[in-house]
Amino acid sequence: MRGQIAQNKNNIPMNIPALSRLRRLAHEHVCADHPDLASMARSLGQHVHREGGAIAQALAPLNMQVDRLRRWHLTPRRARGAHVTLMAWPGDHTTPVHDHDSRWGLEIVLLGALEVRNFTRQGEQLHEAEKTWLGPADAVWYDAHEPHAHRCRNLSRDHVAWTLLVHQARLDHYHAYEPAGDGHHARWQRRRLSTRFAGQLAG
Ligand SMILES: [Fe+2]
Repeated sequence: MRGQIAQNKNNIPMNIPALSRLRRLAHEHVCADHPDLASMARSLGQHVHREGGAIAQALAPLNMQVDRLRRWHLTPRRARGAHVTLMAWPGDHTTPVHDHDSRWGLEIVLLGALEVRNFTRQGEQLHEAEKTWLGPADAVWYDAHEPHAHRCRNLSRDHVAWTLLVHQARLDHYHAYEPAGDGHHARWQRRRLSTRFAGQLAG
């Protein structure tokens, strides 16, 4: 029944219709190795505009549980190809500078607002580029093998932000970057990290 959320022992919703429709919409756009990400962003954004109220209502019970950055698979575990992830951002959470392991990817805000600080990569150096602010239905995307990294921050100190990510494939690893010295020409140390997921939401 629409609006009714079955929950497991961790009180995590197992199926949210508005999110299932977003996942299906994302997969409909992934008919080639490299989909038209701008077109995908437009379709998903229209859906978020239309269904924003239902999405907010469905996710509201979870806000109190978001004590750290959390991710859930929306695409079934054994599915091949593109992967959709739901992400919850606690108030004021800031990520390290990171990449998405050379995959194409798209991130769209469902609720709340994010700041995205972009960096270009040249060898072991990163250079700060533009900064973007995203509100509900706004998206950013990046091409595969683009020498790019970014740092994201929940712009609210108190409120959870929710985003949806679509990646070329399940993102089991990514790289975090830390400056190894001072100054504009400082090298950056790169660490390969495992992506932690809180669980699976039914598609
Ligand atoms: Fe990211």
